[in-house]
Order: sequence, then structure tokens, then C-alpha cells
Amino acid sequence: MTERGVTGGSVADGGLAVVTGASSGIGASFARLLAESGRDLFLVARRGDALARLAEELSKANGVDASFLAADLGTPEGREAVFASTEGSGRAVSILVNDAGYGLNGPEAELPLERVLGMLQLNVVATAELTHRFLVAMRARRAGGILNVASTSAFYPTPYFAAYGASKAFILSFSQALHEEAKKDGVTVTCLCPGYTKTSFYSVAGMRGAEATPFPEMTPEAVAKIGLDALAKRKACVVTHPLDRAWIASGRLVPRSVPVKLGAAFFSRSRLPGKS
Ligand SMILES: NC(=O)c1ccc[n+]([C@@H]2O[C@H](COP(=O)([O-])OP(=O)(O)OC[C@H]3O[C@@H](n4cnc5c(N)ncnc54)[C@H](OP(=O)(O)O)[C@@H]3O)[C@@H](O)[C@H]2O)c1
Repeated sequence: MTERGVTGGSVADGGLAVVTGASSGIGASFARLLAESGRDLFLVARRGDALARLAEELSKANGVDASFLAADLGTPEGREAVFASTEGSGRAVSILVNDAGYGLNGPEAELPLERVLGMLQLNVVATAELTHRFLVAMRARRAGGILNVASTSAFYPTPYFAAYGASKAFILSFSQALHEEAKKDGVTVTCLCPGYTKTSFYSVAGMRGAEATPFPEMTPEAVAKIGLDALAKRKACVVTHPLDRAWIASGRLVPRSVPVKLGAAFFSRSRLPGKS
């Protein structure tokens, strides 16, 4: 990956990258790729033990400085701590990856309200708050890149995945709008929209994995690489798999009710029995 253009400098210039959701899945893959490209890292998630192991491994293997913060980004304190520990402590951030997030599959009326609101705090509020805070700092330096992780669920309403799909639609709309606003200030905002990716996402969401679907499944490494490449190329948005790009495009050729009904048929059956 070449990061010239995202930061105004080369990979060799280093620069600090903040990755949320780095304790597993796509976030851990972002951390690996960024460390391999010479970035210092600031890793964030709730599981401090997993972050500590990854930070140690990546700093030893790549000679970068890797630090971490165990924080719940569903809380105002957790979000504030990320900024305070980096920009607030004089450590300029050149790349922010807002990856932390989870889904909840099932009829809205059967999901625990507390879990739904917690998901919105993380997927929507944390992404919006961290994007805003770091955008202000990057804009002042006229350099930086923000990569926000949405989903293919962002493109059409997703019954039985309703609040999750809506949270990712927020991220897509917010990121595409900011891409346009920020580019004149030397800052790139890119939205990454993965489809099925082999991580713990499904078990957390209480749903069957890609093996139970006709959808293609990707590795977290491949997804993270596509996201970082898109950021480096200053793209507004990237959907990771060509088949996902195809169904999203074909959905625009029919009334919006069609993909919504197809989503209902699919997600009403993808929930794992006994999950809430
Ligand atoms: N896998 C897929 O099929 C897929 C498809 C489309 C989009 N996505 C998106 O990709 C992103 C990464 O998910 P993944 O697939 O890599 O799943 P994952 O392995 O479950 O990773 C989720 C990450 O979010 C962190 N996280 C969860 N709640 C948090 C909180 N309250 N505060 C801070 N961190 C929190 C988790 O760490 P802790 O548990 O340690 O806090 C973990 O590092 C998510 O935004 C997801 O919506 C995934």
C-alpha cells in the first residue's frame, strides 16, 4: 500500500494510527497491515489482554511503537479517553480507523433494548464522535485519513437486522458527506463496506455464518487491505466483494421494496436459535 497522498508524507515518515476494535477480526488485521507499513499504533477495544498481546507482537516484529487503551467506546468516558491519550497528549494522529462495532440479528421487538441502545452508542455515536474530534485536529494540520467501517447492510433497510443496518447506513451517509467536505482541507474520509467476513461478528450478532448463505465470505486480512488501499487512493467508499457490488447495483434497478423484502426473507432465517 502506498500512503502518499493520505498523509502528505511517505510510509517512511511513520505517523500514528488509531485503530478501534483492534482486539479481534478486521480491526486486528488493520493493526497488522499498518504496523507492517511502518505506522506507530494506538489500539483500542475493551479486551486489554488481547490488545497487549497484539501490541507487543507488532512492535517486536515491525519495530514500531504500539500502545493500547482498554476502553468501552459505548461510553462518553471511553471515547474521550481515546482522544485525550493521543491528540490530547501531543501525539498527532495521521490515520484513524473506526472499526469497533457489532450487530444484533432478530425481530426488533424481541431484542433487549439495552443491547440495541449499546450497539447504537458504539456503531453510531462512537464513530461520529471520534470522526469529529480527529477531523478537527487533522484539518488544522491539513493532513490525515479516516477510515470508517460500515457494511453492505448500509445500502438497503435490513428487516431483522434493522437497527444494525440503520447504524451502518448512518456511517455510510456520514462518511460520504464528510469525504466531500474534508478533501479540500487535505483530509480523506473513506467508508469501507464489507460483506460476510470470517470473524466473531456472527456469533456476537446471534446469527449463522456465511456457510448458511449464498453470500461470498472474505478473510479479515483481505477486507482490511481493501479498506487501507481505498483510503490511500482517497476513495469515498469501497464495497469489498464484486458480487456484493453487483447485488447492491441491481437493487437500484427495482423498487426499494424489493431488496427490503429479500432482506426480510434472508435475515428472518439467519438468527441462531435461542439467541437474544
Ligand atoms: N464480519 C462481518 O461479516 C462484517 C460485515 C460487515 C461489517 N462488519 C463490521 O466490521 C467491524 C469489525 O467487526 P469484526 O467482523 O471484525 O467483528 P469482531 O471480531 O467481533 O470485532 C469487533 C471489534 O469491536 C470491538 N468492540 C465491541 N464492542 C466494543 C465497545 N463497546 N468498545 C470498544 N470496542 C468494542 C471488539 O473488541 P472488544 O470485545 O475487546 O471490546 C472487537 O475488537 C464492525 O464494525 C462490524 O460491524 C463486519
